[in-house]
Amino acid sequence: VPETNRRVLLKSRPPGEPRPSDFEIAEGPIPKPSDGEILCRTIWLSLDPYMRGRMKDVRSYAAPVEIGGVMVGGTVSEVIESKHPSLRPGDLVVGMDGWQQYASSAPTGLRPIDRSVAPISTALGVLGMPGLTAYVGLLDIGRPVAGETVVVSAASGAVGSVVGQIARLKGCRAVGIAGSPTKCGYVVNELGFDAAVDYRRDGFAEALRDACPNGIDVYFDNVAGPVLEAVLRQINRGARIPLCGLISQYNATEPPRGPNLAPLLTNRGLIRGFLVFDHFDRFGAFVNEVGAWVRNGELRYREDIVDGLDAAPQAFIGLLEGRNFGKLLVRVSEERPVAGG
Ligand SMILES: NC(=O)c1ccc[n+]([C@@H]2O[C@H](COP(=O)([O-])OP(=O)(O)OC[C@H]3O[C@@H](n4cnc5c(N)ncnc54)[C@H](OP(=O)(O)O)[C@@H]3O)[C@@H](O)[C@H]2O)c1
Repeated sequence: VPETNRRVLLKSRPPGEPRPSDFEIAEGPIPKPSDGEILCRTIWLSLDPYMRGRMKDVRSYAAPVEIGGVMVGGTVSEVIESKHPSLRPGDLVVGMDGWQQYASSAPTGLRPIDRSVAPISTALGVLGMPGLTAYVGLLDIGRPVAGETVVVSAASGAVGSVVGQIARLKGCRAVGIAGSPTKCGYVVNELGFDAAVDYRRDGFAEALRDACPNGIDVYFDNVAGPVLEAVLRQINRGARIPLCGLISQYNATEPPRGPNLAPLLTNRGLIRGFLVFDHFDRFGAFVNEVGAWVRNGELRYREDIVDGLDAAPQAFIGLLEGRNFGKLLVRVSEERPVAGG
């Protein structure tokens, strides 16, 4: 029976790329489970991009790892001692025991593993958190329809590989974006994607266009940054973009060029483009409701009126500079008084 518990602690918060010196290996006693707790031996530890976020001391959807704290991480573990009625030694569980050999905790939120389904490591990958991410992100948010083109970045990885394969199984054209010819070859030849494009090569945007002759209907974004920008130029009308990850900026020391989409992801926000032309069927409802508010003064409006058509160019230039105040109108001619009024 081993006597020590090796753990990896966060030693410092890297400004950019994490260095080995930002971590510290420490040994300590194996924890003793209290009543209601179980002691587990870690078999598999998952390493995931989100951990980079936990090394930062910024407000996010989850608390940061403390300096000196054990790095967080999903684990597959074997119960070796149990003071909880629901688990016995020998049981396998998926938990969040972190980067350490042993952990003692109350078994809340633990998921038992059925060894008969697949190798137990899959509980941290294709049949675990990354697989679920792909499944809900693609099907519930991306809503692919057979015949559409689905593009996914980080396509050879844990999430992306599942996204493209589910897209294929749903009858879509699946196009992967990955960071090397070897990864692209794997995505097409082993995973069965229809095409893959290396975003590091010259002419990436053209190659993506060639791979998506009918445009892009769903873009499952794992990376943000320049890849997202290139994809956006090729999306079709009504395209859906599940925003899953922003790995291109996880190590960044400067704010991203252009808008930072991170708050959109962490707050589960929605951006959706629309054009009013598609919605004139709502005109009747709009005029009824808003017209009543205008009549009874609940909804106010302000007009900024310039006189004469000749004033139009200057007024228009001013509109783009913010010199108008309210709805800018040109009085081209006098309104005729209402007859009998
Ligand atoms: N929203 C959620 O709940 C949720 C859950 C799980 C994962 N995620 C996100 O999903 C994404 C993929 O996670 P994963 O676990 O499946 O990891 P993964 O894809 O297995 O590994 C990360 C991959 O990201 C790619 N990458 C790294 N830097 C990049 C850059 N600057 N530009 C473009 N690609 C880059 C690399 O592949 P290449 O060589 O192809 O560049 C790398 O192999 C991450 O952004 C992660 O944060 C989100």
